[in-house]
Amino acid sequence: MQQSVNILAIESSCDDTSAAVISDGLLRSNVIASQTVHEEYGGVVPELASRAHQQNIVPVVDAALKRAGLQPADISAIAFTRGPGLLGSLLVGTSFAKGLSLALRVPMVDVNHLHGHVLSHFIKETPEDEVPEFPFICLLISGGNSQLILVKSYKDMEILGRTIDDAAGEAFDKCAKVMGLPYPGGPHIDRLAAEGEAKRFKFAKPHIPGLDYSFSGLKTSFLYTLRDNVKVDPDFIAKNQADLAASLQKTIIDILLDKLDKAVKQTGVTTVAIGGGVSANSGVRQAVAEYCAANGLKAFIPQRKFTTDNAAMVGIAGYFKYLDKDFCRYDAAPFARVTV
Ligand code: KG4
Repeated sequence: MQQSVNILAIESSCDDTSAAVISDGLLRSNVIASQTVHEEYGGVVPELASRAHQQNIVPVVDAALKRAGLQPADISAIAFTRGPGLLGSLLVGTSFAKGLSLALRVPMVDVNHLHGHVLSHFIKETPEDEVPEFPFICLLISGGNSQLILVKSYKDMEILGRTIDDAAGEAFDKCAKVMGLPYPGGPHIDRLAAEGEAKRFKFAKPHIPGLDYSFSGLKTSFLYTLRDNVKVDPDFIAKNQADLAASLQKTIIDILLDKLDKAVKQTGVTTVAIGGGVSANSGVRQAVAEYCAANGLKAFIPQRKFTTDNAAMVGIAGYFKYLDKDFCRYDAAPFARVTV
């Protein structure tokens, strides 16, 4: 019997320590340890994140192997996130991957975190799971990125548009912070928006040519709405939480879909996917699904567990690189910034 290709994947780019096993393209385990240490600071503290990764990485990798029913000796290659992300956090995953790769005498595969988000649509939990056909457009929306990507193959990706200032996730998080909601605010806006009236408030929408995004004007316009009203009535935010959240979410969705529609028309693709933390948003998921249905496009909306940072997506991206024998050298250093 032919031996299985078992990829052990490690993700440590931000505040989640994750390890996963992909065997012959199928997901066998995906373990995520989310760090709670940052909650009291209202954002991720890089130094605390690196320290927490150091504490988590051995037990998380151990759990991923055990859940997959594998021994370290069964591993064919180690895939790890090389960037973009927090340098100290990436160093923990990169160094761990190097050490284990040397100890087990197996190759390493470096993965671009953003490729991982795009390729998360190829994670299969059963052989029957449907995956997108190339080419397709991926709307990649997270806390650090907002990009429209034309995905031509596993490795050939062209950025059609990107944010020129804030990312969509930042727009959610910064506005939520002004409303006094905990970090990250995106999920709280999502929850509150379900109860609110989206037509209640009007916020500024950008007029940026081409397929690039901008979210900083929306943030400013949101701030001004609150400031004016807070002066009049300090309870304004508390009383209008749901309507503010619903109106903000609707504005972000309109901005995202406006450029997505332009990209679809420009390229003529028939398949659209979304990915990244913000693709967990209920309103975004529904709006993209409805847009695709109305325009005869096939939509790939990821399961929520694959929208935030996870090693399963690093594993599938690493698996494709492994099949290409696209290995990584031991002097590979992590990088904080990179595009797809
Ligand atoms: O991809 P991701 O986990 O990592 C970073 O790029 O940092 O994305 C995190 C972002 C945060 O801005 C968070 O608020 C946002 O994804 N997010 C959401 C939701 N869940 C996570 N935004 C809106 N609605 C959600 N349900």
